[in-house]
Amino acid sequence: MQTVNVQSRMARVQAPIIPVIGQMIRETPGTISLGQGVVHYGPPREAIDAASDALGDMVTHEYGDGAGSPALIELVERKLRAENGIDVSRGSRVMITAGANMAFMHAVLAITEPGDEIILPVPFYFNHDMAIEMAGCNTVRVATDARYQLDLDALRRAITPRTRAIVTVTPNNPSGAVFSEASLRAVNALCADHGIFHVADEVYEYFTYDGVRHFSPASLPGAEAHTISMYSLSKAYGFAGWRIGYVVYPTALASAMAKIQDTVIVCPTMISQVAAIAAMTVGRQYSSPHVAELAEIRHIVRSQLSALAPLASAPAADGAFYVLLKVETRRSPLAIAERLIREHRVAVTPGPAFGMDEGCSFRVAYGALQKATVAEGIGRLVSGLRAILDRP
Ligand SMILES: Cc1ncc(COP(=O)(O)O)c(C=O)c1O
Repeated sequence: MQTVNVQSRMARVQAPIIPVIGQMIRETPGTISLGQGVVHYGPPREAIDAASDALGDMVTHEYGDGAGSPALIELVERKLRAENGIDVSRGSRVMITAGANMAFMHAVLAITEPGDEIILPVPFYFNHDMAIEMAGCNTVRVATDARYQLDLDALRRAITPRTRAIVTVTPNNPSGAVFSEASLRAVNALCADHGIFHVADEVYEYFTYDGVRHFSPASLPGAEAHTISMYSLSKAYGFAGWRIGYVVYPTALASAMAKIQDTVIVCPTMISQVAAIAAMTVGRQYSSPHVAELAEIRHIVRSQLSALAPLASAPAADGAFYVLLKVETRRSPLAIAERLIREHRVAVTPGPAFGMDEGCSFRVAYGALQKATVAEGIGRLVSGLRAILDRP
């Protein structure tokens, strides 16, 4: 008998860090997780009721339209027009996906050939890097500035004949940075000039603070031909387990996107779409009080973390629910993260998962905290880091 060959394209793909941290958390009961990027609340009551009613409807149990249910697509198109300034009648289409991760994978497969390059500003969202490498393409990492804002000259210099897209994630995971409208306009124009795509991940569009506004590059005149924008209900509606997101893409990609969708999922899950219609009918107002509470939590997080200076620091960030903390040490971020869990019962995500290979950094996720737990969680992080860095 021959040993089966398990070599595959997956060998070059980074392993997901969340399950690694998750396992350590399970082995250390009582750990407060500042690890996974989740919110503490669930979906609107209306979504749960609608899903429950749909159980008795035969349509729920059948295949549906590949691109998504017409009622949900219509609702999404209305929302895009009203909130994002995106008019799909100008030459784009909407597809409902099982979350924004699937939307990104679809986009990469639709716009590349093996060996092509996609530019990710660093820090990046790890699943974007993984999707690009899985597709047989290469992630081209481009540094951001000290506040994790885009460096336009560096992005321009990174473009080669094999470049197919520049990706922007704003508000950003893992830094919390919100990219300025001017820089997003410049990236979109740069992409148009070079005949490449601008892939805009807008999953955290509702999560901005201190009056800072989110901007959708696909709203720009002429952007529809080269802009792919993706959104998710996971954070805004506490919907992560229902797996619903959507992507707006140029009509020229319709055939490619349909092939991928049909092969990967056939159609989005019917019952989740029913719940999504009910959630989006409640609308943005559902997340508003939660975002207001997160704004207060963010202040507490920032002021507690400032006690770590000069040992550790993070530039102020205006969005999402993350802080990217830079620690002044040459020690391994993964080893420190492990000790934080096992000795101090607090979990954070090490920076290398986000492409932060130089120095020592950690993403601190505060979306799952409530006012009652935030002081305890960040307190453990501050005292844990001090203790670990004092003692080799
Ligand atoms: C930047 C970013 N994009 C996409 C996703 C995935 O969202 P979804 O649950 O819709 O797949 C996440 C989830 O953390 C994210 O942070």
